[in-house]
Amino acid sequence: MNLTGRNFLTMLDFSQEEILAVLETAKRLKANPEEKAKHPLKNKTLAMIFQKPSLRTRVSFETGMTQLGGHAIYLAPTDISIGKRETTEDIAIVLSGYVDIIMARVFGHDIVQDLAKYATVPVINGLSDFSHPCQIMADLLTIQERKGKLAGLNACYIGDGNNVAHSLMFGAARVGMNMTIICPEGYEPKAEVTAEATRVGSETGSTITITSDLAATKNADVVYADVWASMGQEEEAAARKKLFEKYRIDAETMKIADPECLILHCLPAHYGDEIDYATSRTPNSAIFQQAENRMHAQSAIMVHLAG
Ligand code: CP
Ligand code: NVA
Repeated sequence: MNLTGRNFLTMLDFSQEEILAVLETAKRLKANPEEKAKHPLKNKTLAMIFQKPSLRTRVSFETGMTQLGGHAIYLAPTDISIGKRETTEDIAIVLSGYVDIIMARVFGHDIVQDLAKYATVPVINGLSDFSHPCQIMADLLTIQERKGKLAGLNACYIGDGNNVAHSLMFGAARVGMNMTIICPEGYEPKAEVTAEATRVGSETGSTITITSDLAATKNADVVYADVWASMGQEEEAAARKKLFEKYRIDAETMKIADPECLILHCLPAHYGDEIDYATSRTPNSAIFQQAENRMHAQSAIMVHLAG
């Protein structure tokens, strides 16, 4: 499987075969620290551009790079002020002369697209307003570990039809998992994402369902939550808190889901809002395994794109 030089901006950038190959590499790296000790990314440098805050993305990429023998440079929102101090095009060209991979967390998806257009090194999307594919690679790894498979499972995402929802839909469609997005009316995923995920899913046996009905979690194998107001939507948080009130993973959700239903949350969590604290700490919850898997999944992505 040769992914050298490729970009990773959305889950659709990888085929099903490529996603499964990267997940196998992630499992191998996780299980065999000696593989990492061979330093497959020796002398490679990762530039990490952040327009938004982060715990997991920043630390997991940086630690992953250290474990693989490479080096990571953190560029804080005020360091390069992408698009303000200088153009995205110039930043992409300049960074390509120094580093081997660029990872960027941005507001507009057009910024990662522009980075990928002008950079001559691989560009990885560390979250944009449109998608969060690295998160979903970690989620698929976690589901595989806990459920032993992906295809044919019924996954339900409860909440805002946001970047994480979009990437779950694309990822599920690629791997043949059924995906139901349960959101308040007016907060559905983008119509073009639903259309494209449905088209891709028809090739793999995955169905994509959008509903406002919480009863859709009946018999779910996986339930997933994310914050009601994403980064950049802080001023909408109070209004959303009322609108999203019922759209929560709690004991009620778990009563109608499958008894073995896995609970996922990309974190950070707002306990009492989109997920109840007690439910997040039950044996069905894999939220911290999921967070750790960010590092293993991203290390595998970096090895494939730049190893
Ligand atoms: N899940 C996630 O991307 O976490 P951070 O925002 O902390 O990176
Ligand atoms: N949807 C959230 C995900 C955070 C990891 C956001 O964009 O803020």
